[in-house]
Formats: sequence, structure tokens, C-alpha cells
Amino acid sequence: MTTEQKHIPVLLSSVLAALGDIQGKTIIDCTFGAGGYTRAFLSRGASVIAFDRDPNVLSDVEHIAAKYGDKFRFVPKTFSHISEIDGPVDAIVFDLGISSMQIDVPERGFSFRSDALLDMRMSVSGMTAAELINNSDVNTLAQILRDYGDVNRAGVLARALKENQPKTTFELRKLIHNIKDVAPVFQALRIAVNDEMGELQRALSAVPDLLSCGGKCICVTFHSLEDRIVKNKFREWTTPLGDPRMPILQPAPFSLIKTALPDADELSDNTRARSAHMRGVIKSC
Ligand SMILES: C[S@@+](CC[C@H](N)C(=O)[O-])C[C@H]1O[C@@H](n2cnc3c(N)ncnc32)[C@H](O)[C@@H]1O
Repeated sequence: MTTEQKHIPVLLSSVLAALGDIQGKTIIDCTFGAGGYTRAFLSRGASVIAFDRDPNVLSDVEHIAAKYGDKFRFVPKTFSHISEIDGPVDAIVFDLGISSMQIDVPERGFSFRSDALLDMRMSVSGMTAAELINNSDVNTLAQILRDYGDVNRAGVLARALKENQPKTTFELRKLIHNIKDVAPVFQALRIAVNDEMGELQRALSAVPDLLSCGGKCICVTFHSLEDRIVKNKFREWTTPLGDPRMPILQPAPFSLIKTALPDADELSDNTRARSAHMRGVIKSC
């Protein structure tokens, strides 16, 4: 079974509608995953440069490379490395967060529903969540829990983490007395382990210079923290340039594309689509 059968692409039809005709265009897919978006772009005549930090995606990469040859290139790096691509490109697409393959494989340590080592690394290298707890002081841990999980009584939990040094998902779960808080704590540690917010900020900073005139940037987000980063960047790019007190302003470098949410059919087919939100911008000429 390839990973294509395990991950249902979220908001794909909205992303394709926002991109319009992509025949002959070059698209950067920043989050290859199971290649759902990449396959859709290639089958509509685009060339794709895809990024993913997870080495487990390589079997899908090989399938696609065999079928599409030099129309497809894969970069096994974090997407903040898009700044190293020779532009311009016609579109840059982000489908953020983790894939079903990552959350559904217990040994990856992302899920509180099965017992495994507390890992949570998308790239399978660097510091695990257990090591992050081990190496951080109480204040840093409390900040992570507060900033990335909006966790109540973050200081108390941070102290409990340091005292108990959980090594597995179930050991961590046991320390979180209020079961309602389990998901936000796991989310906070996952975001910190993978530097998800830093990656997104750095990648978005590279977008304006990389896009061609009329080029588009489309982001699908899954929680309010990443959505806020995207919304603020897009607001900055779509604001006319110059001093707002002066009568003549230069037009904004980008304009907004209509946002999209999953419809009832998508929500009933795919629970992962629940909190998805698509935003896009188009570069002015
Ligand atoms: C939601 S999945 C993408 C699914 C894909 N659109 C599809 O249709 O199959 C997100 C993927 O992005 C990857 N990813 C997340 N953050 C990344 C980053 N900063 N750099 C590179 N890959 C990243 C994850 O490893 C995961 O495979």
C-alpha cells in the first residue's frame, strides 16, 4: 500500500480552483506528504518542486518520479529552504500540519491514543519530545505549553514534566490530570519539537521574491496559531505601500484570493478536514 491510500488531501478542490489553469506552470508544493496535491498538479500539466522533511515519504516520491520524470523534483528538506530555489515560480502551496501517516503510526509518538516513545519528530532527526522536556528548564517548558497549546496552569504542568521526565506518550498522558488538556499539550510539544511556527515564518518571508508576476501563494492551515501567522503576512502584503496619511499610496504588492473552508461532504468524508482553512494571495504585476 502506498501512503497515497492513507492520507486524504484536504481542501484539494478549493486549492485547485484558487490556482486556476496550471498547465505549463511551475508550482512549489512545500508539504509533499502522500503526494496528493503534487499528483493533482502534475496530472493537470504543471511541473512540481516538492519539499518534505519526513524521509518516510520517499516511496511515494519514487512512484511519482518514475511517472513524471523531469516535471517533478523532490527536495528532502524543511520548507524554509524554498529560499534556495531559483525562481520565479508560478505558485507556492502549503498544506500545513502533520499527515495521517504521521499521526496514525503509533511509533512516531504523535498520538496520545497509543503508547510509544515520546518522539514527535517529522524529520526523524534532531531532538525528540522526551529530549526537549529533558533539556529545557521549567520556564521554557511553561512558555511552550502556554504559547503553542494555550494550556491552563502551564507552570504546574511544566514542573511535573521536569520532575517526572516522561519517556512515552502514556507516561505524558498520565501526568496531565485533566483529560481535556491532553490534545493541547501534545500539540504544544509537537509544534516546539518541529519548530513549526519558525519554519512557517521563514518560508513565508521567501515567498514574495520567489513568485512571478501573477503568481499565487496558497496556505491550508489547521489551527489558529499557524492561521494567524498566514493571515498577518497576507494582510501585510495586501496593504498599499507608503504613508497612509499621504494622498498617494503605491498599490499593494499582492491581493487576496477568496478563502475557503471544507464543505459538509468533505467534513463527513474526512475528519482531518475539521479545522482546515484555505487562504491565498496573488502577486500584482
Ligand atoms: C498535511 S501533510 C501534506 C499532505 C499533502 N498535501 C497530500 O495531499 O498528501 C503535511 C506534510 O508536510 C510535512 N511538513 C510539515 N512541516 C514541514 C516543514 N517545515 N518542512 C518540510 N515538510 C514539512 C510533513 O512532514 C507532512 O508530510
